[in-house]
Amino acid sequence: GQNGHTPGPEFGATGLQPQDQPTDQTLTTRQGHPLTNNQNVRTVGNRGPTTLENYPFLEKISHFDRERIPERVVHARGAGTHGVFEAYGTVGDEPVSKYTRAKLFQEKGKQTPVFVRFSSVIHGGHSPETLRDPRGFAVKFYTEEGNWDLVGNNLKVFFIRDAMKFPDMVHALKPDPITNRQDGGRIFDFMSNTPESVHMLTFLFSPWGIPANYRQMQGSGVNTYKWVNEQGEGVLIKYHWEPKQGIKNLTQPEAEQIQGKNFNHATQDLYDAIEAGNFPQWELLVQIMSDDEHPELDFDPLDDTKLWPQEQFPWLPVGMMTLNKNPENYFHEVEQVAFGTGVLVDGLDFSDDKMLQGRTFSYSDTQRYRVGTNYLQLPINAPKKHVATNQRDGQMQYRVDTAPGQNKHVNYEPSSMNGLKEAPRTYPDHKPYISGNLMRQPIDRTNNFKQAGERYRTFEDWERDDLINNLVANLSGAQQNVQDKMVELFSQCDEDYGRRVKEGLQKVANGTGEQLHGQANTQVGQEAAQQAEEL
Ligand code: HEM
Repeated sequence: GQNGHTPGPEFGATGLQPQDQPTDQTLTTRQGHPLTNNQNVRTVGNRGPTTLENYPFLEKISHFDRERIPERVVHARGAGTHGVFEAYGTVGDEPVSKYTRAKLFQEKGKQTPVFVRFSSVIHGGHSPETLRDPRGFAVKFYTEEGNWDLVGNNLKVFFIRDAMKFPDMVHALKPDPITNRQDGGRIFDFMSNTPESVHMLTFLFSPWGIPANYRQMQGSGVNTYKWVNEQGEGVLIKYHWEPKQGIKNLTQPEAEQIQGKNFNHATQDLYDAIEAGNFPQWELLVQIMSDDEHPELDFDPLDDTKLWPQEQFPWLPVGMMTLNKNPENYFHEVEQVAFGTGVLVDGLDFSDDKMLQGRTFSYSDTQRYRVGTNYLQLPINAPKKHVATNQRDGQMQYRVDTAPGQNKHVNYEPSSMNGLKEAPRTYPDHKPYISGNLMRQPIDRTNNFKQAGERYRTFEDWERDDLINNLVANLSGAQQNVQDKMVELFSQCDEDYGRRVKEGLQKVANGTGEQLHGQANTQVGQEAAQQAEEL
């Protein structure tokens, strides 16, 4: 009958036979049960129906149904690898201990394992790696004193200087909520009303906005941090990574050539180089400024839209990073890794940079949601040293962070019953004096245009030409008042800069422009133009 045993090939069409004896390679369920048949669901007769008690199938398919976690809200597309950081023991000509007591920097030759994740910012997890975008450069140092994360970008400045603006900035850069396409009209609408962005835009729309790959780009901490020495004295610090491979950027047409053939070229380049034993290296350099407001400068040292001029604040080398081991599993390491600007070790500190402080809340907040409450217990995120806390429970806790020999009934502090004790204080705290009125105000020394103009003038001719082409291509569909505002901003940076963008836009409007590459979708601008015509 239909439900009777129907003889037939028991192991399905593959013809595979199970092993005679279980071995280490024997397939099991997650409960550890050896799995004798991974080809066929359990059915009444070989034509079905299926049964619901079929645990191996239910376990397999329901785990598959949960294989994705939320993507990072920004920087979703990335590649990661392991490596090592080796300290010089010095900062320029001086012993590094003069400025910081952080242990990882002290001795020449001291090695600290690292994990690095490079990324692009705006689009999703499998978007092309040729897109115009800043590139993330995030480094996790597994130091003997716990983890330090240096969460940076390739470009050394940023669009905004106040964390309050970040969600708006990202919304303007992300695809339109209706058309689901990135739209130059929306991007420049926001940017034209955010004049501090013009320095970053000058980098981004030049070839510097499309690094050729991850190995041949710089990195920067962007925000201002502090170093603190054994006396508790602080200095302001900016971090930079300089690639030993040199720097290589792409023009828009070059990027389009690559994108038509390979949308994973940067991930592939990094992986293949490391597999071939061609280990990429970056030197870590810092700029140092005394810890005060520096009224003599025409910019605020805490303003992340500014570079610290190299002539005044030289780049001083402190160590070398070598990336030498690809991840064993992409999801396990690269997707689940969680970096944050709050993750500092003793001797490294925050500055009062209000962007940095806003970022510091955002990272661990999103990671508790994206990865889960106990994300710090995952191997890629856990420090490579002992962890002992009184934090307990929560989703997916799979270890209890107690210390050997401690009374495990005591999950609180203080206690006289052999619980965890506070660490001894080795050095004086850094105690900057802060006073002022509480307020919501922009900084005084905004100086939005000077450095952007310098950037424009120091570019090589081909970089400037590409910059103008890219700006014109992406601005040409924006509303007229947005175009005018942007031209005005560029003119304030450099008269020639504004004039060239304006002429380019006029040519496009007259239909005499060349075929431009990389034209972003400008739905909003086009709709507005159409509406204006109808009026
Ligand atoms: C990733 C927030 C500014 C570099 C992220 C993520 C958030 C975020 C929520 C996702 C993190 C995750 O899911 O693990 C912010 C906020 C900012 C800000 C609120 C400003 C207030 C910056 C700046 C830089 C930067 C100025 C460059 C120095 C990065 C990098 C990543 C990232 C490299 C990716 C880290 C990784 O590879 O996992 N940011 N960000 N961000 N951000 Fe920011």
